[in-house]
Amino acid sequence: MATERSALFIFFGGTGDLAYRKLYPSMFNLYRKGTLQEKFAVIGTARDKLTDEKFREKVRKSIGSDSKEAEKFISHFYYEAHDVTDQAHYSVLKARAEELDKKYKLSGNQIFYLSMAPNFFGTVAGYLRTEGIVNDNGFSRLVIEKPFGRDFESAKELNESLAKSFKEEEIFRIDHYLGKEMIQNIEALRFGNTIIESLWNNRYIDNIQVTLSESLGVEERASYYDKSGALRDMVQNHIMQIVSLLAMEQPVAFTDSDIRAEKVKALRSLRVYNVAEAATNFVRGQYGAGNKVKPYREEDNVPADSTTETFVAGKLMFDNYRWSGTPFYIRTGKVLADKFTRVDVVFKKPLVDIFAFPGSTNTAPLDTNILTLYIEPKAGFALKINAKNNEQGFQTEPVTMKYLVDPEDSKKTPEPYERLIHDALKGDGTNFSSWQEVSYAWKFVDQIRHVWDLQAPNFPNYTPGSMGPAAADELIERDHRSWVYKLNK
Ligand code: NDP
Ligand code: BG6
Repeated sequence: MATERSALFIFFGGTGDLAYRKLYPSMFNLYRKGTLQEKFAVIGTARDKLTDEKFREKVRKSIGSDSKEAEKFISHFYYEAHDVTDQAHYSVLKARAEELDKKYKLSGNQIFYLSMAPNFFGTVAGYLRTEGIVNDNGFSRLVIEKPFGRDFESAKELNESLAKSFKEEEIFRIDHYLGKEMIQNIEALRFGNTIIESLWNNRYIDNIQVTLSESLGVEERASYYDKSGALRDMVQNHIMQIVSLLAMEQPVAFTDSDIRAEKVKALRSLRVYNVAEAATNFVRGQYGAGNKVKPYREEDNVPADSTTETFVAGKLMFDNYRWSGTPFYIRTGKVLADKFTRVDVVFKKPLVDIFAFPGSTNTAPLDTNILTLYIEPKAGFALKINAKNNEQGFQTEPVTMKYLVDPEDSKKTPEPYERLIHDALKGDGTNFSSWQEVSYAWKFVDQIRHVWDLQAPNFPNYTPGSMGPAAADELIERDHRSWVYKLNK
């Protein structure tokens, strides 16, 4: 049984899509595993006027169970109709919070989860403090959803408004990729294995490729997505987080502050491109029609002349001793060939191919060693190495050593939101984005956005079901390299 944690959760945006689809089911898993037992209570808030009973009915539906256990869990849920801009109403919320704190013996521990539009984050954080809902008895933590700003300036403004009410260590900025099993495994693989970490540098690694490919389009989120685009939606947060875990130095210890310090150091050495470099090193795309998918510009809530990118590919360079000269190529997009996330670490070829002497029967050149980290949907890794085949004569050929998590075990892997809520309860910030990480990521991304905003793109430029526009291939081929994951045409 897990260690029991006690807290009052207040979910702002408690009737939203994210809360019902991800947050309450994750809370239920924590309950089943014993992290939450008797000493917890949940207040859901939104403007909709619901009774506790009606709210519980919706939570029951969202966790997909009406077992005895589920009913006990749901009995800890309460609802408070509340417009977050209405200062006066915070006193009602405060009274409810105090009542539940006493009833469930919560020792003043509070988690405020802001699962609503980001323009409310500053307002809610401010009122939580000024209206006295935050108390000094236990811990008070603020969990906030993405997006954290839409550029460095707006992110800074948001951060300053949060900082008036909460200390940095009390703010937990969600990046759900950091809750994924195989993303967390990057540190285990790197820092738990001499054979990996000793080769993890520009002397042995030729390039690293990070691909976050999605087969679906924007679904019903077009009004948000069209103002964001792939660069802000996926690169500024998820990809920059993955890249910083791949690039960072070994932390002094596996603690949140040590890991964050190294991630920030890595991001500080990421080369921020000038205008010409940004234009050369990043490409964008938007899908047109094809494979029975309608073009992005014909999606509901998307303007017919939208210039929003649904695809990004780019090359990142770190100017530090470990990585100087080794590019990190990244790409992500909607309605691509498949849904998967992977990292391919491409090693340099042996300096001399001794098997290829004049007259040698070994006709195949040595292949490149590649370490592939499969993040999702399959989880595991593979290492491609050269070996002799088992036939007469001497012929080398690449073989792959593979470890894939058993699909049955994968089913038992906690969902990112379950892990992250658990971490927030423990006060462990390892798998959340710190302000410094967010700010360096924005500074890098802003420069790309700035250059793109100078010139209208020639959209649409890729077909649904492909791996993006031709420019993404050209970007890497220009460097005499190619994407490890390619479509079998
Ligand atoms: P929804 O639009 O589904 O939900 C918004 C919630 O906020 C509703 O409960 C709504 O209820 C409430 N709300 C809106 N205005 C107010 C107000 N003035 N006062 C009080 N409550 C209000 O959003 P999502 O659940 O999809 O997203 C929530 C957050 O999570 C966003 O920041 C989003 O970017 C992020 N996110 C969402 C993901 C998803 O898959 N849905 C994925 C990743 C991040 P009511 O209208 O009744 O007030
Ligand atoms: C979200 C983006 O952060 O991540 C979505 O807003 C995207 O546009 C999603 O679809 C992808 O997450 P996952 O876990 O499905 O790879």
